[in-house]
Amino acid sequence: MRTRILGTGSNLPEKILTNADLEKMVDTSDEWIVSRSGIRERRVVDEDIPSSELALPAARQAIDGAGLSPEDIDAILVATVTPDMAFPSTACLLQNKLGCRQVPGFDFSAGCTGFIYGLILADSLIKTGSAKHILVVAVEELTKIVNWEDRSTCVLFGDGAGAAVVGPSENDDVGIVGKYWSGDGSVADYLKLPAGGSLMPPSQKTLDEKLHTLHMLGNETFKTAVRAMEEASVEGLKNANIDVEDLDWLIPHQANIRIIEFTAKRLKMPMDRVIITIDKYGNTSASSVPIALDEALKSGKIKHGDDVLLVAFGAGFTWGSNVIRF
Ligand code: UT7
Repeated sequence: MRTRILGTGSNLPEKILTNADLEKMVDTSDEWIVSRSGIRERRVVDEDIPSSELALPAARQAIDGAGLSPEDIDAILVATVTPDMAFPSTACLLQNKLGCRQVPGFDFSAGCTGFIYGLILADSLIKTGSAKHILVVAVEELTKIVNWEDRSTCVLFGDGAGAAVVGPSENDDVGIVGKYWSGDGSVADYLKLPAGGSLMPPSQKTLDEKLHTLHMLGNETFKTAVRAMEEASVEGLKNANIDVEDLDWLIPHQANIRIIEFTAKRLKMPMDRVIITIDKYGNTSASSVPIALDEALKSGKIKHGDDVLLVAFGAGFTWGSNVIRF
């Protein structure tokens, strides 16, 4: 038995922040941002919209697309580093907002690899009979945790949500055919939100020092990312027993166009078979892969029978891949 994606959804805030807008906020330029990252604009969520609200339309689309109703969902997994609150989980808040039955739900933190980890978890839960239909959501409101005075990070990130409903496949040829996941806490310092947890509880000092904002060592992250993306891609394809020549689409985490191009080059995957959204949404962390997947499915790029590689890396560090036959 295989697990397949039954429906997908995505939701982006309407408000657009362009590179020209950023030029007025920090010492940067459109030329620098585009050439170093590939980003032209990103979406910014309203202050009063929490992650559970941003995720709601994406979750509804995924459930509708699966031909199901909220009562059919047996478990909810939410990948996010920007939950509504530390607890209760955004998954439980979403369960209530969707009008689902009383079902298990939890958040997990896997950085930008969240959706990949979520599909691997859901696949296992379905195969062990713990749940039949699982809603996997990735939602991030990174514009609420970036330091708007730090030009090296604030130009890179954006907000968005993506979702998928997964369930058992009737046809053994269709579904998740390969996977790989890994992690390494020895490089945790490269990308973190230092304060607000049990290590550094909120205080005037942590506020003054802006330790409640995203901190990243860009170059170190970049180098780790290119290695991780290649490893996750190669190992995922190996696990699926698929040669890269037979792969139809690559959907990489959208952190930097140069990381994407490097990954595609190492795989010998032509760029016209790579789904790109970074120019319009920036880095939306865990949401970037399901948003790109949803757009590729809805635009008709991904067709029945296509083999698609989802691959991501992120804070932790974490990295992983799913190979899915549609
Ligand atoms: O999903 C989460 C994972 N995150 C990532 O994958 C991000 C990985 N890292 C990157 O994508 C890249 O390292 C960055 C886009 C963050 C930076 O690109 P880079 O080519 O590595 O630039 P750099 O950090 O080496 O900085 C080069 C210069 C520096 O100036 P000096 O010291 O050479 O004079 C920076 O101060 O660019 C400067 N700089 C900027 N200039 C204009 C840094 N940010 C900016 C900016 N505008 N926004």
